[in-house]
Amino acid sequence: VALGAQVSLVGDPGKRPPLRAEAVLHPATRKVALLGFGTVGRAVADILCREPHLRLTHVFNRNVERKRVSWVPDRVQWTDNYQDVLQSDADLVIELMGGLEPAHQCIRQALQSGKSVVTANKHVMAKYGPELLDLARQHGQQLEYGASVGGAVPILAALRYGLAGDCLVRACGILNGTCNYILSNMEANATTLPAALAEAQRLGYAESNPCDDVNGLDAACKLSIVTRLGLHAELNAFEVPRQSIANILPEDFRYARQIGCTIRQISLAELQSNSLRSAVGPALIPLQSPLAACMDNQNAIILTGERSGDTVLAGRGAGGHPTAVAVVSDILAIAAKGHSMPAVSSVRKYPSADLYCAHYFRICHRGVDFSRTLMNLIEAHGVRMRKWLQHPDSTNQLAACALEACSAGVANLVATAMEKLDGISQKPLCWPILG
Ligand SMILES: NC(=O)c1ccc[n+]([C@@H]2O[C@H](COP(=O)([O-])OP(=O)(O)OC[C@H]3O[C@@H](n4cnc5c(N)ncnc54)[C@H](OP(=O)(O)O)[C@@H]3O)[C@@H](O)[C@H]2O)c1
Repeated sequence: VALGAQVSLVGDPGKRPPLRAEAVLHPATRKVALLGFGTVGRAVADILCREPHLRLTHVFNRNVERKRVSWVPDRVQWTDNYQDVLQSDADLVIELMGGLEPAHQCIRQALQSGKSVVTANKHVMAKYGPELLDLARQHGQQLEYGASVGGAVPILAALRYGLAGDCLVRACGILNGTCNYILSNMEANATTLPAALAEAQRLGYAESNPCDDVNGLDAACKLSIVTRLGLHAELNAFEVPRQSIANILPEDFRYARQIGCTIRQISLAELQSNSLRSAVGPALIPLQSPLAACMDNQNAIILTGERSGDTVLAGRGAGGHPTAVAVVSDILAIAAKGHSMPAVSSVRKYPSADLYCAHYFRICHRGVDFSRTLMNLIEAHGVRMRKWLQHPDSTNQLAACALEACSAGVANLVATAMEKLDGISQKPLCWPILG
């Protein structure tokens, strides 16, 4: 899908053509139980209900009675007792409840009961992925999780199949559609972050509590999954250095423009000199980067291989219907017995290292001209100033500058030293500028 292209969403269930599943499916009809009947669960049920070779058998949800809908066939059992699912003849369980527990235990129990599992749950797969994949293997079942990263963008499929012949050294992308909606709208409409967030919530792109989106934890979970599968490196989502997007101002986009950049929430993992560099947070990216063209709630990722160079994947990274496409694709792959488990043993633990890149600083000061003092302070840390940025329209007490490449650790020392200067009212913000 070309970035920015309009994709017509699935409409009325009755009017849609059936999937071309017949060509790839084992002749036997697959019996599928659904855990969670929310945004994605409903969209998956919608596809399953018109697909002759996939039969929805159960919908499991807490307080299930309020979830019933007339378009699901009468033969489907609605239940809030998980034992009904475990003891049934369903051969596939689709986990779409979200959260760590009870989703993790439900997946375990399904695998132990001889049922394969498809999940869209990045939290569970980031934390328990290797354990659950081992369990699946022990029980001769399959566990697929393509929808846990990138919605309809087949990022995990590309890592497992399309690019498996290469050694990937870098994954750099936009993995959170809510943050991308907020930032691309701040950029396009010169609006504030709270206003863009409110609009994202109004459109249903952001949850009522968007904390884990804004603080980067959601993206860090996805980055951990991508790193394990693509770079064969262990990355604990909770140990990824993260910065919130909450402090971004409309002025930051104006400053970024002065050096030919825009701002996105970027997730980055990079193997270099036998160490792993990772980060999630606001970053300046060149306007000509494919990531800068990623608008609204889209996701995009650049995967860099030693031999294949850069491969860009982009598209609808969130929303019920795009995510349901990834879930159903995993169901079809299991039905066709096309997937094989990645070798967990090939995942290595690398020492972590700081990012090494140019940095953007934004300083809030009390009206004094600081450019000379700041330049001296920066140079005292062995770093060169690339450009002093000052927006002509700026009426507030903000200033910004771009520094030549240095490690994130040194950039942080510079920020801490700046904070101690008279007239600086808070620690300057410091974000990477990615080339
Ligand atoms: N939405 C997206 O765009 C998107 C994109 C990619 C991946 N995902 C992933 O897909 C999964 C589902 O997301 P969603 O947006 O569909 O969430 P959702 O709208 O909140 O739906 C979750 C459903 O599961 C039910 N549920 C939650 N906890 C339960 C429990 N303990 N026992 C029984 N039922 C429970 C909820 O019931 P209640 O109605 O009672 O809350 C709700 O019906 C998550 O892992 C999410 O990260 C979502």
